[in-house]
Amino acid sequence: MRLVSASLTHMTDFSRHSIPLLRGPVPLSHLFLHSFVQSGDIVVDATCGNGHDTLLLATLVGSSGHIFGFDIQQQAIAETGRKIAESGFSDRVTLLQRGHEELTEHVTGPVQVVLFNLGYRPGGDRSIITRPDTTGRALEQSLELLAPGGIILVIIYPGHSGGTDEQSTVEDWAATLAPRACHCWRMGQTNTNLTAPYLLLVQKTT
Ligand SMILES: C[S@@+](CC[C@H](N)C(=O)[O-])C[C@H]1O[C@@H](n2cnc3c(N)ncnc32)[C@H](O)[C@@H]1O
Repeated sequence: MRLVSASLTHMTDFSRHSIPLLRGPVPLSHLFLHSFVQSGDIVVDATCGNGHDTLLLATLVGSSGHIFGFDIQQQAIAETGRKIAESGFSDRVTLLQRGHEELTEHVTGPVQVVLFNLGYRPGGDRSIITRPDTTGRALEQSLELLAPGGIILVIIYPGHSGGTDEQSTVEDWAATLAPRACHCWRMGQTNTNLTAPYLLLVQKTT
């Protein structure tokens, strides 16, 4: 198992180790990325947004790995590209201003991880959000591309407008997956309100 590194956000120092503060599903998803992504892997960031997750993935796959990053917004692709270039990782990242529902048109598997951070881009236009129909199609395609043992991570935001419809789409899809083919997990904080964002994980077994 890989040691959790200082690149996790919201760290604090509890004496001997750097411990990530698990405030919400994003740092939790990063723990899984640290555990599952190895040097040389091919991974997908299905929703680049401001590029924070793409940047973490770029550090984890190393110079021999590759990330395919999707977003429909020009600003998201530009901001992600800027962060990646600043860190010197441009060679290992392909950014596509395309919807993730076109995943299999642009990416050939197997991939180790597909990451979805649903909703709108923080600091951007809140009317541009992920949608149930396209998210559902992208999830199907992600499973097709996934390597055995690979994972799909989905951060779900039931609290914003349209969020509960998208939540139902994702939850209904995960619930229909055969237990022998996939392990599906739902992880949310219990000491917060019912509309708080949470993490869903799907691992393909074979
Ligand atoms: C919550 S943000 C992602 C945050 C990002 N992972 C980060 O680290 O900053 C969600 C993003 O999904 C994008 N999006 C919406 N519909 C999409 C689609 N069909 N395909 C790809 N991206 C989409 C939005 O433009 C927005 O930038």
